[in-house]
Amino acid sequence: MRKNYLAGREGGDNLDIIKAVGREADRRQIPAYLVGGIVRDIILQRKNGDIDIVVKADALSFAREVAKTLKAEAKVYGQFGTATLELPGAGRLDIATARKEWYPHSGSLPKVCPGTLQDDLYRRDFTINAMAVSLNKDSFGELIDEFGGMADLKKKKVRVLHDRSFLDDPTRILRAVRFEQRFGFRIESRTLRLLKEAMDDDGMRNVKPPRYFAEFKKMLSESDPLPCLKRLNDLEGLRFMDSRMRLDIPFLKKIHGNWNLLKEKFPFYSQCPAWLIYFMAVVEPMEGPRLDAVLNKFPLRKDEKQSILQVQKKGDLTRRLSAPRLTRSRVCGILRPLSPAAIAYWRAGTPSRRIEKRLDAYAGRDALIRLEINGDDLKRMGASSGRGIGMTLSRVLEMKIDRQRMSRKEELDAARTLMRQG
Ligand code: CTP
Repeated sequence: MRKNYLAGREGGDNLDIIKAVGREADRRQIPAYLVGGIVRDIILQRKNGDIDIVVKADALSFAREVAKTLKAEAKVYGQFGTATLELPGAGRLDIATARKEWYPHSGSLPKVCPGTLQDDLYRRDFTINAMAVSLNKDSFGELIDEFGGMADLKKKKVRVLHDRSFLDDPTRILRAVRFEQRFGFRIESRTLRLLKEAMDDDGMRNVKPPRYFAEFKKMLSESDPLPCLKRLNDLEGLRFMDSRMRLDIPFLKKIHGNWNLLKEKFPFYSQCPAWLIYFMAVVEPMEGPRLDAVLNKFPLRKDEKQSILQVQKKGDLTRRLSAPRLTRSRVCGILRPLSPAAIAYWRAGTPSRRIEKRLDAYAGRDALIRLEINGDDLKRMGASSGRGIGMTLSRVLEMKIDRQRMSRKEELDAARTLMRQG
């Protein structure tokens, strides 16, 4: 009897959704499979919220039916014949028509046409990501493993399916390293040779920078990106950023250790994207036109770029924040224009105890202090100009930060006195 890889997974892993897709496929009499990373993770017994489905039929009309059943919204991408459903609870469901892919030239986007399930699995990056599980009733849970994915999972190997894999898609260099380090696997020896050859190939330059960036961001979002960065650095695999790119690993280790402590200790940093902290550390040694080139070629948001540039002005900030006697409100004045990510990064890397203490007082307490009064209170007391109101409120806030405790009445009294003084 064949093994059912989906048995015993009740209560987790979106099994109800997967079963609902299977039932819909049976109703329409089309073959449907779970594919890619989720199959790998089911076998490894790891959580994965992204469900990838391949059908041997028109995925788009199938996805619309599934969306109705699951009460989800379907977004359709005509170019590749795929649809994405944002699931009401969490996670995503991607549905695609089984397809064949070929790359017109190294590093380009693939051309696609409908294909068999085998074509669809063969177009994938590594054997461990090229397995499928059937969702139809008569074969529910059966594994389709044409390229030795299960054997490689057991041997802990990252292996490409064919020799052109990295040439076709050089972003797979980053993926190989990420999976190797995430799972504690090894890149298999022939695959490693192909990876190194691909790095010397012109195809590296054909890849549009946003595609590298998407993969690099995934790497920096791993729970511990350090081993990935170290391995990529050893392989000289950071050339997609800058031809002279080398990492300062001991410095990255320090940032990593301190960042993990900081995000636990201070809720102020909870909104900081971890990948950005590591990205700042990676680009820290760059300056001027080299840094500008990196910031301009990757799709960074304006606020993300600003955080990175704020970090570059650390010398001046360090000098200002090292002054021996600074009131807490002065410290706030220096720090308030900076993003929490820039402050977190600065705190994670600073060698100065005095700066550490000041940044911790800010993140732990002073940045969170708010006034109980507002502009309406001041208007009721006779204030009229918007600018005057703003200035009075920020003066009262400074007083509250320095005194650490002020009641609403004390805030109103302070505002009244300031208004009288003009
Ligand atoms: N894939 C590929 N080549 C790429 C990107 C993706 O062959 N450059 C295939 C792989 O089969 C992969 C699947 O598309 O399993 C889904 O890609 P993605 O969601 O990026 O990867 P996951 O394997 O799900 O990895 P993760 O656990 O990091 O989400």
